[in-house]
Amino acid sequence: MFRTLAIGIFSLLFPVLLSCEKLPEVVVPETPLQEQKENVEGNKDEEKKEEEKKDEENKGDETPKYLEPTSKTLVVYYSFTGNCKSIVTSLTANIEADVLEILPAQEGLDYAANNYAIGSGLISAIREKPNEAASYPAIKTVNRNAADYERIIIVTPLWWSNMAAIMQSYLFQEGSKMKDKTIGLIVSSHSSGISSVVADAKRLVSGGVFHENNLWINASNRDKQADLVKEWIAGFSNNTDSMPEKIKITVSGKSLPVKIELNEATKALVAALKEASITYEANDYGGFEKVGALGRSLPTSDSQMTTQPGDVILYSGNQIVLFYGSNSWSYTRIGKIEYGTLDELKSFLKAGQGKITVSLSL
Ligand SMILES: Cc1cc2nc3c(=O)[nH]c(=O)nc-3n(C[C@H](O)[C@H](O)[C@H](O)COP(=O)(O)O)c2cc1C
Repeated sequence: MFRTLAIGIFSLLFPVLLSCEKLPEVVVPETPLQEQKENVEGNKDEEKKEEEKKDEENKGDETPKYLEPTSKTLVVYYSFTGNCKSIVTSLTANIEADVLEILPAQEGLDYAANNYAIGSGLISAIREKPNEAASYPAIKTVNRNAADYERIIIVTPLWWSNMAAIMQSYLFQEGSKMKDKTIGLIVSSHSSGISSVVADAKRLVSGGVFHENNLWINASNRDKQADLVKEWIAGFSNNTDSMPEKIKITVSGKSLPVKIELNEATKALVAALKEASITYEANDYGGFEKVGALGRSLPTSDSQMTTQPGDVILYSGNQIVLFYGSNSWSYTRIGKIEYGTLDELKSFLKAGQGKITVSLSL
């Protein structure tokens, strides 16, 4: 009943909003946010009192209690009307994962009531001051530690073009634990496009390695959800499962690990190394690097950077540069050699001693 009503309202409203070129403005609720909060606070119910009692009991015990992970993948979701919850059911039919549901600290709020007043109020507060913790609605304590996982799949509703406020709270709080993790994003909306939700995810999980394809489920493809999720998760798993964290570099019989990035170049390199190791010759250049032609081209995603000793870089799509010094240029990053001291790295690369033979392997 509620969903039919909500969809009815969105169906009427969104064609008008979407016809505007810029993102729809948040509808500022007639009741100011502060007043709304006071009204809601005035309605404290038994559950709230119960929570306060529990908080009181837990005082002094500030270390969160996390469950032992049972999988390398964490699926984290928030769902107000059940659509994201149903996406999670489709997901877990296809992969092994631990599942974490994010819940607002304050139960029973109707984010859609009064023309979405509370929901839009929460989103405007975050938009105004995205860097302040006070802008984010409180959530219940989570029992999974994102840092324990290799891959995190975020399943979230869209609210007024942005990520639902409750999920933003979770990522604001825990996003820093997702550094270097592979992140997948699934967004459910009625009809609005998800680019601002993707931007929210990247702002809140700035150290994450985002899977290139996000999945968007909306009113017009929801009936195909099971197939779409199955197809998306196959791409996500292929992309990440088959990628090792490190490859090996060998010079004159001595090997060191190279921690690799996740990008199109490393995917192509790893695919080639699965067939056979690659051996090429490299020479000193500029007093800070050993450069050599790989004998094949890899896809580039060049960006301006200042390299550091140990960096393994793709230059011009077909040359590998091994740095024992530093240089600023537009390159594609492959990874970093894990070395001890700078002298050890220089000795490994025979810095300044001319031609070396380099082998890359898995
Ligand atoms: C506060 C609020 C704001 C919403 N804003 C939009 C919107 O701007 N565009 C849209 O297409 N859908 C919007 N929706 C609809 C939800 O994105 C959509 O129904 C989604 O599938 C809900 O997921 P859930 O059932 O897991 O909560 C909004 C829903 C709520 C509650």
